[in-house]
Amino acid sequence: MDTRLEATLRALKAIGFDVIFLESSQVYRQPRQEQHRQTENLEKPQTDSKKKLLEELYRRIETEGKCPKFEGSSGYVFGEGNPDSPVVFVGEAPGEEEDKLKRPFVGKAGQYLNRKLQEVGLKREDVYITNVVKSRPPNNRKPTKEEIASCVGYLKKEIEIINPKLIVCLGSTALEGIMGKSYPITKYRGQVFQYPFNPKIKVLLTYHPAYILRNPHAEKEFVEDLKKIKELLG
Ligand code: URA
Repeated sequence: MDTRLEATLRALKAIGFDVIFLESSQVYRQPRQEQHRQTENLEKPQTDSKKKLLEELYRRIETEGKCPKFEGSSGYVFGEGNPDSPVVFVGEAPGEEEDKLKRPFVGKAGQYLNRKLQEVGLKREDVYITNVVKSRPPNNRKPTKEEIASCVGYLKKEIEIINPKLIVCLGSTALEGIMGKSYPITKYRGQVFQYPFNPKIKVLLTYHPAYILRNPHAEKEFVEDLKKIKELLG
């Protein structure tokens, strides 16, 4: 207790005051609106702030224009899903359908991925899905090393905000972006890496779903990899 307050209380007691009533107006009550806001925050503290940070990041990509917005594309396609998900899927770059709808993995490859996720007990809406490069390259060509390099800082920031336990790279371009080095998919698919910028995060490499649509014989391995997700999440 404050020593001056203690001295005052002692002096008052000495002259006969046993009880002191404080005016009720001095009791701080939170305004109702504030109380409500706090309960709301208790329910969804992270989701809302992560959503806000991701929105800010996507606005930054728009304004900075470092990550190429390709000619002929309709603009950027950003990540979507549950920002509290323990798993983030990373693809290469949006395709035609994604460019039209401005959503990642909504074309044939995306629909196939959704079906396979369901098969292994995961729901598309429960995970987060994004791409290394954020706009559609002309004729769906593979992004160059320079294009990947100019977008990857934003991907790292996305991952830092979401802070998942696992990153699933759909194809070797995604892994190259994440690891800063290329790993041939034939040799490294199904392998687990450590995310260089946060060793607590694991990185799993699997095929790109578009590859499976062209090479159905690889579906078994793809599903095997997807089944590992739950194991890796612990
Ligand atoms: N292929 C990708 O790599 N990303 C998409 O969003 C769609 C197809």
